[in-house]
Amino acid sequence: MCGIFGYIGPSADKARASRLCLDGLKKLEYRGYDSAGIAGILDGKIQSSKQVGKVALLEELLERSKVPTGATVAHTRWATHGAPSTGNAHPHFDTDKSLAIVHNGIIENFQGLKNQFQNGPFKTDTDSEVIAHLISRAYSGDLLKAVKEAVELLEGSFALAVVHQDHPDEIIVCAHESPLAIGKGDDECFIASDAHAFKGQNLQVAFLSHGEMARCSRDHVQVFNSRGKALDKPFLSLNLKDEILSKNGFDHYMLKEIHEQPQTLQQALDGRYSDEFGTAQFEELKFSAQKVKRILILGCGTSWHAGLLGASLFESLARISSQAEIASEFRYTNPIIDQHTLVIAISQSGETADTLAAVREAKAKGAKVIGMCNVSHSTLTRESDHVVFLRAGQEVSVCSTKAFTSQLITLALLALYFARQRHMSKEDGQAFLAQLKNLPLKVRQVLAHSKAIEKVAIKYSSFEDFFYLGRQYMYPTSLEASLKLKEISYLNAIAYPAGEMKHGPIALVGPALAVVALCGNQQTKEKMLSNLMEVKARSSPILVFASEGETLFDAVATDIIYLPSICDELASIPYSVALQLFAYFVAVEKKTDIDQPRNLAKSVTVE
Ligand code: G6P
Repeated sequence: MCGIFGYIGPSADKARASRLCLDGLKKLEYRGYDSAGIAGILDGKIQSSKQVGKVALLEELLERSKVPTGATVAHTRWATHGAPSTGNAHPHFDTDKSLAIVHNGIIENFQGLKNQFQNGPFKTDTDSEVIAHLISRAYSGDLLKAVKEAVELLEGSFALAVVHQDHPDEIIVCAHESPLAIGKGDDECFIASDAHAFKGQNLQVAFLSHGEMARCSRDHVQVFNSRGKALDKPFLSLNLKDEILSKNGFDHYMLKEIHEQPQTLQQALDGRYSDEFGTAQFEELKFSAQKVKRILILGCGTSWHAGLLGASLFESLARISSQAEIASEFRYTNPIIDQHTLVIAISQSGETADTLAAVREAKAKGAKVIGMCNVSHSTLTRESDHVVFLRAGQEVSVCSTKAFTSQLITLALLALYFARQRHMSKEDGQAFLAQLKNLPLKVRQVLAHSKAIEKVAIKYSSFEDFFYLGRQYMYPTSLEASLKLKEISYLNAIAYPAGEMKHGPIALVGPALAVVALCGNQQTKEKMLSNLMEVKARSSPILVFASEGETLFDAVATDIIYLPSICDELASIPYSVALQLFAYFVAVEKKTDIDQPRNLAKSVTVE
């Protein structure tokens, strides 16, 4: 899993290739940041540099070492096979370092392929290194042919870029269930795992389809299909403006993105509703909800949590049987899907490998897919039948915050859209819409409680173990809230439906365990209280988040934070914002790397 970048251009500006590659890698760091490396051709030889850690460290290293000038490839890694180390960092080489490869994906049959080499030429623990040796073994002067022969032996998913010292003016690339974009400029050529790494360049861009390869040089790109037939691939001008990223005075991108939510929620709403008809409207969707008998929502991580809440909304508002599935599990279940099943694939990045694989499985079974995504030109947007954008703006922090609440509000709008096409009355639609439109204000009110949330976060940061409890909509909300704490503070946080505690987990309750209770749903509040009484009887401190004016929980709460009240269906949004702040302030106390926490990546591009 990783980000690939490559460049070939005029050699007059000696540092241009490495400068552009570093810039491109920084834009791809959301795909991993364990180590980074670069290789190209200098004076007829492969010249390379690798470094453990983030791209900025590779940049420092390059200031002290020779930089490649010819065809250059670069890589930022998220370790799958082999620890994050300089040795395991890409690029990888053949024995005499005549070629270099960078790889995104997983070679599932790497062990069998390695066994084909008698003399054990391998220097790394990676699955990727074998590709370099396979190409080298097949090479007899034609690099494209050698790469083609090598990739025919590979199983798994991969995007590859290869340079060879005998071919200083070309990069060979291929894509196999992993994305690869090629950008043609004025006498220069770029390649990247994601076209957003081309931001700031004026390029004509094409995306390789599954099985395609290309020979890229400064002034010409030739794409081939898997049988080696030359294709006339269209290159399009994408409007990819470079955004200047700034924390706007906040200490971290995460905090900035938490504070952006009143605005991002508003953006998700804008132009997507009609007060007069009490409904939502999506220009991008042109089908009737009458035909939809079942909704299947697919996603991973935070996006799956949004899907769980979305499924409840579709059932409760639109009365359509709905379920959310973890994409990585779904594809191995031989799912039952017919033409009346609508699939909604949720992905902030649009690049999560498991979600994409699940979408392909659903499409193979005939389903129509709505992609719900934050990133234009992503793989999900290209592969979905319809696309609904989240409009959250670029999310930099690995820990998702504003994209999650945008997913929730967009799902709520979609549920209203379907409900009104079925049996929901105009008046009920108008009432729900009024609550939806109130969300930016409610979230602003939550943000005004920041100081109080910081205070309890400091107090609770001394605990090592947390239970997050909720019922109804507050249960998926607690899953997401506990994930935030795990991701950025590295503390053990388990989310549980409060009513299930007595079936086992209550054995863990005691003074050393902190319970965070999400009490934002009216319908289940008495039941929630009983569950918290059972916890209190066993001496765990309880931090309650409840609605303003609610006194029910005073008897059980060790500490209590009051949040603005809103209908049960939408309470997840303000509550999530409060719990994002809680996790953030705990992580500040723990002094972790909040925007790029250890072992994580913003987009997981391997299965
Ligand atoms: C990674 C990120 C999570 C994200 C998940 C799914 O694990 O760290 O924040 O929720 O991938 O990503 P997606 O882009 O598909 O929403």
